[in-house]
Amino acid sequence: MLRKSLTFILLTILFSAQKPREIGIKDLFKDSFHIGVAVNAQQVSGKEPKALAVLAEHFNSLSPENGLKWEKVHPKPEEYDFEFGDAYVALGEKMKAFTIGHCLVWHQQTPNWVFEDESGKMLNKEDLISKMEDHIAVVAGRYKGKIDGWDVVNEAFNEDGSFRESKWYNVAGKDFIKAAFRKAHEVDPNAELYYNDYNVWKASKRKGILELAKEMKSEGIRVDAIGMQGHYMLGSPTLEEIEQGIIEIAEAGFKVVITELDVDVLPRPNNAQGADLNINFANSPEYNPFVNGISAEAEAKLAQRYADLFQLFHKHKDKISRVTLWGLHDGRSWLNNFPVRGRTNYPLLFDRDLKLKEGIFEKLREVAED
Ligand code: XIL
Repeated sequence: MLRKSLTFILLTILFSAQKPREIGIKDLFKDSFHIGVAVNAQQVSGKEPKALAVLAEHFNSLSPENGLKWEKVHPKPEEYDFEFGDAYVALGEKMKAFTIGHCLVWHQQTPNWVFEDESGKMLNKEDLISKMEDHIAVVAGRYKGKIDGWDVVNEAFNEDGSFRESKWYNVAGKDFIKAAFRKAHEVDPNAELYYNDYNVWKASKRKGILELAKEMKSEGIRVDAIGMQGHYMLGSPTLEEIEQGIIEIAEAGFKVVITELDVDVLPRPNNAQGADLNINFANSPEYNPFVNGISAEAEAKLAQRYADLFQLFHKHKDKISRVTLWGLHDGRSWLNNFPVRGRTNYPLLFDRDLKLKEGIFEKLREVAED
């Protein structure tokens, strides 16, 4: 009798210990692509309750939402701040995650002094490029071997495929882009290097991007993938437009990375598409309809949109190496403030309590098993 109950207890312990671990999003797509997420300082430092556990359970790639942008990591000419970056790469190592650097060169979140000499005069091309190269050497150099892929240049094109007239471009022309990729490769030869932008689904914009990427490749400059940011809305762009983008990037000889996926469920003024940070509108009830919770209708549309997007990505898993969500949960999404300030948005896979949206997860499971 005693022996029987002991066996029973032992078996129960053994069985519960072997209970299969819960399947995370990353496990659903483990044979297809990495599943990434952009993290902020609170999450990286473990100050946000539950965040580290959710990260470990569901994601196998990390991106830094703001902490490695120029204004954060290099706020003054002689001053670098690596507090975030060091904690970030340590977390990436602990999670054995594919760890992304974002971003080395951009026209946003870059201090004005970068473009000026000590007296406030605009730098000439040579001096600006050399300042940029120093920055890349220090930042990418510090994380050599710890960051697996860098967004080297971010958002250098206009919607019509011409070069954005940023200070970088106005002073240095397109050579600043080439120099940035060259330097990044020299500093960390094993890191993957990406050109990253929004609205790459637009044929006109993509044409400009791919022309330059091919030109760089023909000059022996390393470019591994084109980042399609993936800041989408419920009804736009169409799946066909996104698919065309994926196919053309692959045909041009580059991998695709979906770098900043989120789905805006709120109405946008003038249907403003994409992620141009210069666009910003004042809040109004018309643009902020779900202050007390998302409607069942919008929630169902969101789940379907995610299912459709992941089905498309899964179909092209031979071309796509990573899909990264731009934020861990709705409460911390930048879409609460863009393109309209102070809204209540629901664009991600986890809600404000860090609970996985089960409706979306079930649909993703179906997509992955298809
Ligand atoms: C956003 C961040 O999410 C915000 O917190 C910040 O205030 C502005 O930048 N394209 C990019 C990202 O490449 O770096 C931007 O991130 C969103 C648009």
